[in-house]
Amino acid sequence: MAADNSDKLCIVMVGLPARGKSTIARKLRENLTKDRIPSRIFNNGQLRRRIRGQDTSSPEFYDPNNEAGVRLRERIALTNLDRAKRFLNSGGQVAIIDATNVSRKRRQKIESFFNGYQILFIECINDDEEILDTSIRHKVRLPEFKGLPRELAIESFKRRIDYYKSIYSPLEKERNFVKLDSLNNRILMEEISTRIPFYDLIRDFLVTDSVKNLFLIRHGETYFNLEDRIGGDSSLTPKGLRQAQALAQYFKNKSIPFIFTSKKKRTIETAEPIRDLQPNCSIIPLEEFNEINSGVCECMTYEEIRTQMPEVYYARKQDKYNYVYPGGEGYATMKERVDRGIKKALFLSGGAENIMIVGHRAVNRMILSHFLYRRTEDVPYIYIPQDKFYHIVATQYKKLFQLKPYE
Ligand code: F6P
Repeated sequence: MAADNSDKLCIVMVGLPARGKSTIARKLRENLTKDRIPSRIFNNGQLRRRIRGQDTSSPEFYDPNNEAGVRLRERIALTNLDRAKRFLNSGGQVAIIDATNVSRKRRQKIESFFNGYQILFIECINDDEEILDTSIRHKVRLPEFKGLPRELAIESFKRRIDYYKSIYSPLEKERNFVKLDSLNNRILMEEISTRIPFYDLIRDFLVTDSVKNLFLIRHGETYFNLEDRIGGDSSLTPKGLRQAQALAQYFKNKSIPFIFTSKKKRTIETAEPIRDLQPNCSIIPLEEFNEINSGVCECMTYEEIRTQMPEVYYARKQDKYNYVYPGGEGYATMKERVDRGIKKALFLSGGAENIMIVGHRAVNRMILSHFLYRRTEDVPYIYIPQDKFYHIVATQYKKLFQLKPYE
């Protein structure tokens, strides 16, 4: 009698390179495993790198008309399918095939290979050019691009993507699939026609922002802070620089691959000493994390605003969350861009164990309230000191908020 495999699940990732497939695959594996569901990832790229190393970094290897390349890639894909099936047949419950799988033909092969098992296709879609660009810049740091100058490696990776685009066929005919906006964790389309094991759980993982350890820091003291001036782009004072050094010491034994900052000098100057004590860390400045734009009040002190523009001063006091500075922003109107910044940071950090954001007072309030529900009217009053940082854990299984001193 044939074995009944209908409770075994094969998840098949689909999407162009740099669309967040591996991050989603890891997130699924980690969460399923925490729930004691034996799960494993079968990644074609990793296998290819192990077998062939650098000689598969040239874009021509991915040309669908390059017969030798196609043959090798098919062999790798098949080896992984075979391993995945063996895993499912020997106690495994969920096998995740992490590869582009962009052609219908490849997916049909997988369907017939896993005949009798449940199959769920997850297509990752993200066409945000800026994110793609940053993502590609990071990907070319992989050992397979070691022999190439950076700009050439970027070019080569883009050409590889174009080859995949030329054979791309979006999910449509498959029996069970989800199309996911992988930047915004949003399900764009869902077609489920059989009973997929753990689907409720998987669906929740797909749409939930999760961060293992986020260190949320406010920049060190600036010359503007000394005078109580808002906005602008001032630098750190000697005390601010000492604070940055102290942060660097505090975090030097944690591995922080990414520090996201705003585009303002004060956040970058705070991040630099931290990066310098890390073996492998990049600073990524994002416009979305710039401090609230106070429009006509930029570079003024609160006292100057009170005496020179009392209508602004008192109106803001009345309803600080919704008030919008003339020619600038308010907390309410900033929300969308800060949320976008958080999504970008999470996407780019690819599920890293630790990530750091160095932001500003108002921005950090918004970031905190993204993870921790606060009534909107309370958000502009959240305490954001310069001598402490917030440690945030937000996963499906754990939520933690801690304000910690670093000196
Ligand atoms: O003073 C520092 C600062 O980051 C300003 O640039 C910004 O306008 C302000 O804090 C935001 O805080 P609040 O909303 O309480 O005025």
